[in-house]
Amino acid sequence: MTEPRKKMTLPGLYKKVEEGTPITWLTCYDYPTAYMQDQAGVDMILVGDSLGMTMLGYDSTLPVTMEDMIRHAAAVRRGAPNVWLVGDMPYMTYQPSVESAIRNAGRFMAEAGCDCIKLEGGAAMADRIKGIVDAGIPAIGHLGLTPQSASALGGFKLQGKSAVLAKKILDDAKALEEAGAFCILLELVPDRLCKLITERAENCIIMSLGSGPDAHGQLLIYHDALALYPKFKPRMAKVFADAGAVIREGLNGYVKEVTEKTFPAPENWFGMPDAEYTALEELLNIANPVIFDADEEKPEKKKSKKNKKNK
Ligand code: KIV
Repeated sequence: MTEPRKKMTLPGLYKKVEEGTPITWLTCYDYPTAYMQDQAGVDMILVGDSLGMTMLGYDSTLPVTMEDMIRHAAAVRRGAPNVWLVGDMPYMTYQPSVESAIRNAGRFMAEAGCDCIKLEGGAAMADRIKGIVDAGIPAIGHLGLTPQSASALGGFKLQGKSAVLAKKILDDAKALEEAGAFCILLELVPDRLCKLITERAENCIIMSLGSGPDAHGQLLIYHDALALYPKFKPRMAKVFADAGAVIREGLNGYVKEVTEKTFPAPENWFGMPDAEYTALEELLNIANPVIFDADEEKPEKKKSKKNKKNK
């Protein structure tokens, strides 16, 4: 019998870093997927505001609300009690002030059972990180391609390619670490910049999303890893299983079988004992129902059909 999985904790994450074992991190937005991720031994789950696109069909993450996030994060927590659960702070729930950041971070912990929060931005957001950490909530920073600022960044593209911009990301990482972030996600920055930041981090876990192999662990968007997002597949993602194809095949099969009347089959329904059905007919007084034949004037008595499947 396999040992039940232990709940992932902050010391557990640091232990993996010390041992040099990469941390596994996936996005997740719903109960059944969370259940499977927990069973698969995923260390961390991010309930990302990417759910605006992957689950709600928006074109960006900007319309996502705290209510959306809390509902999905709570469902994920119910499915995955053992993972380290990260709530992603949606647009304009922390940018306006330190107080808004602390209040909304607290909602992730109290209402959804998260273990920590993540927010986007560098030195300009360091006071939000500090406020949240001082309130007793572990916080993750997010640098590089930060989708909530995609417009200001010129789109969804590699960040920190030039020396000057790379230096800015290095400085931002330092500022977030000093503010108390226990972890920083680097999204879509060059591999060598990610390596530098990881080597320089003193007490901070560095995670990579499309930023190369030299961080302490890897994050992937679940829908990219399993080919479930219909609109595009980012170059940085690897498809580990084409679940999209399997689902499409299943759906086509369902439509075909219902249309061709091969589903449902006898094993898909339940019968009723003859005696009970006869009693029911008597109760309804339909054992010998009077059927009107449109072509005849007189009503004609017809025998009722017996239940097809007699159990
Ligand atoms: O919302 C999300 O899934 C994210 C990832 C893109 C890192 O923030």
